[in-house]
Amino acid sequence: MNALPFPFPVVTWDDQAVVLIDQTLLPEQIEFRRCNDIPSLCLAISELAVRGAPAIGVAAGFGLVLSWRLNMVGENDPKKILEQFLADKKQLAATRPTAVNLFWALDRVGAMTAEMVTKGESAESISSALFAEAQAILDEDVAMCRSLGMHGQELLRDYSTVLTHCNAGGLATGGYGTAVGVVFAAKESGKSISVFADETRPLLQGARLTAWELQNQGIEVTVVCDSAAATLLSQGKVDAVITGADRIAANGDAANKIGTYPLAVLADRHGIPFYVAAPGSTFDAGTETGQDIAIELRDPGEVHQFHGGRATPEGVAAWNPAFDVTPNDLITAIISEHGIIRPPYRENLAKVWGSE
Ligand code: MRU
Repeated sequence: MNALPFPFPVVTWDDQAVVLIDQTLLPEQIEFRRCNDIPSLCLAISELAVRGAPAIGVAAGFGLVLSWRLNMVGENDPKKILEQFLADKKQLAATRPTAVNLFWALDRVGAMTAEMVTKGESAESISSALFAEAQAILDEDVAMCRSLGMHGQELLRDYSTVLTHCNAGGLATGGYGTAVGVVFAAKESGKSISVFADETRPLLQGARLTAWELQNQGIEVTVVCDSAAATLLSQGKVDAVITGADRIAANGDAANKIGTYPLAVLADRHGIPFYVAAPGSTFDAGTETGQDIAIELRDPGEVHQFHGGRATPEGVAAWNPAFDVTPNDLITAIISEHGIIRPPYRENLAKVWGSE
């Protein structure tokens, strides 16, 4: 398997296109998908060619650059360009409902654009400013992940074993990773960490992506079926469970890939710390509790299909929620770019991220 540069070039801008590592093809093939228009980018997000909360945010930022530049062709009036830009923004916002980073990035870039239009800036200068803002979202994400990784690795002793779920690694972010970023940072600090990666049915982000990127970086990784987690924890084989998040509510409840909540229950049962690693772009002060988080329901076909074949009898129903919510009382700490956040979460999250 070819190695990629690290931090991984998950989302980049190249010659008027948003370029993505096509994560639907990993680990068998490393291919880049060029999105030259908004429908192709929306499809890439909804098909999970680019996925993971921070990576979706980065893709959305560059998506708005693409929108502006495409709508500038044959049109100089920023007010007219803005009309179509806002329609494209709406399309991008409709791709996936749970990861708040998508809306955070769209709002950040959208607000800046609307302000520049109001001030009477030229279409050309707005175009340059948009690119700078989208690139800043990417660069800041890598910096935040590096920083949260460094804080998080202090929670791990040398020779610790971590269990993680889904893929909260470089591929899910601007390139460095959140939960898996903690493991990368531990390695950079000279620690030897091994990882159990839940396979993460139905789309196998753990088996395909987390295992691939840890192996790519020379970190020992063992894939387990999701249903093996209880046995793993009960046998004392894990020192800490670390996952990412798609949205953290004001009270600390955290949405993440379906199957995260049971891990938190198991960690509690077995006295093992359960950490959520996430940057400020994943915190949603406007969402009071986890109950207010929209949970994406995906195509039941993803459950019916397994490894290229059908796993269920024809005519049987399947239910496919993509995320669950871990209640804050099961979270030992939230690992952020500003340090380790502990309960009471409502107060402590507001202190750390409330003003951002
Ligand atoms: O459906 P996905 O693959 O986008 O889900 C991703 C996750 O649940 C990740 O754990 C989460 O986005 C955190 S990524 C740093």
